[in-house]
Amino acid sequence: MTDKPEDQTRPANKAVTKPGEKPLSPRAAAARAVRAVTMDKRSLDAALAEILPLVTPKDRGLAQELSYGTLRHHGHLFAIARALLWKPLEYQDRIVFCLLLVGLYQLEYTRIPDHAVMHPTVEAVHDLGRPRSGPLTNAVLRNWRRKREEVLRAIAADAGPDFRFAFPPWMLKRLRGDWPKHWENIVRYSNERPPLCMRVNRRQWTRDDCLSHFRKQNFDANPTAAEDGIVLGRRTVSKVREAIATGQMAVQDTSAQLAAALLAPKDGEEVLDACAAPGGKTGHILEMAPKAKVTAADLNLFRLFKVKQVLALRKSKAALFAADAAELGYWWPGKFDAVLLDSPCSGLGVLNRHPDIKHLRRESDIAEYAKLQQALLRSLWRLVAPGGRLVYVTCSILPEENNLQIKRFLRLVHDASIEDPGDDYGIDTGHGRQRLPGVHGGDGFFYALLRKTGGDGDGGGDGDNPGGTGGGA
Ligand SMILES: C[S@@+](CC[C@H](N)C(=O)[O-])C[C@H]1O[C@@H](n2cnc3c(N)ncnc32)[C@H](O)[C@@H]1O
Repeated sequence: MTDKPEDQTRPANKAVTKPGEKPLSPRAAAARAVRAVTMDKRSLDAALAEILPLVTPKDRGLAQELSYGTLRHHGHLFAIARALLWKPLEYQDRIVFCLLLVGLYQLEYTRIPDHAVMHPTVEAVHDLGRPRSGPLTNAVLRNWRRKREEVLRAIAADAGPDFRFAFPPWMLKRLRGDWPKHWENIVRYSNERPPLCMRVNRRQWTRDDCLSHFRKQNFDANPTAAEDGIVLGRRTVSKVREAIATGQMAVQDTSAQLAAALLAPKDGEEVLDACAAPGGKTGHILEMAPKAKVTAADLNLFRLFKVKQVLALRKSKAALFAADAAELGYWWPGKFDAVLLDSPCSGLGVLNRHPDIKHLRRESDIAEYAKLQQALLRSLWRLVAPGGRLVYVTCSILPEENNLQIKRFLRLVHDASIEDPGDDYGIDTGHGRQRLPGVHGGDGFFYALLRKTGGDGDGGGDGDNPGGTGGGA
């Protein structure tokens, strides 16, 4: 998973429609994005990368907001749309169904006045190539306005968790089981728009300077629990774009910022950021220790290119490698003082930033992630110099990917000790700390700080075999 914010801070590029071609309306664009995720099972990022260039720059923010919002509340909106339709739609009208969801989202969850929702949403059927669906779209949205309470009562009578919480049942079951005291807050926060959290580039200015810069312009700006972190009000979006373009700030959630802080890189140290792309934490490491010798690796060459862009913006340098970190430890010649393993994971701690995860993730994926995470830990541990440290981080809130993973790892190796980063890092699980969304102010992240004590090395018995990864946690 990435720490990427939702779209509003993306630079407004030119539309790429052909001469004479009409740009795509924001409602039609959102309907396409919703279809891409819910029906074609594509990631929202990938879908928007294709769709947004067809929208005029001034409408892109709205198209994104409607896409994200509709996906966050999809389970709820889906049940309403189904209840309002008097007959099932045909296969080719799937896109009209998605447009209805976008329309209902606006009526139910945004402050856009009803009259400003109705006409452009109904008109969007033309952009979608379904001109004959205008009357149906109009009727469904009007019926919702007229019969909202009645429809809600009818649905609620036999509603499942999809409708009540807009969460897939398996995810909800896990959250209830793993976090019986906190699951309701987690669910609520996961369905909200995330706050605009930024990291101030301490090499360019201080957090205090940055706060007073925004406050002087009467913008909401407040410090967060992370040393370089601030949270800004929504009105600042255009100002933030300028600051991002010059490398003065980066969009990064408070919990994500705590990862590099826990690694605490120092000038002159050899540092490995093993799953680095798109480079949010690599950039942070180099802001904290500009003279550290940083190696950034990622399996995905395309995403690694983004790390290059992030660093170029900050005039920072790192050695970049496209490599499988689960194998790196078995052939890399050197050792590192500090290794950051920001592991691939289910992403269940960042559902408000990535609502498509609710549609794309399967319960069976968790065991696969757990297997990979254990392989990554075991491989990368070999690269930690004696006395050095490895910080294991995920944006998951599932124990299998987090504390149980570390517990298992510590049973297998005999030269590792775990250090407690303290209460800022959330709940003490006994094998690392867990920040929960909606509970600790920010995304859900897990952290474990492991120190190499100089014992007898990898005790798993398959130390030279990168394929011998064992089972899940
Ligand atoms: C959570 S994201 C990293 C986010 C990044 N650290 C940041 O702060 O911007 C996980 C990354 O792990 C990469 N990845 C997945 N499997 C990998 C593997 N076996 N070896 C190296 N990288 C891997 C993915 O391509 C993805 O970029």
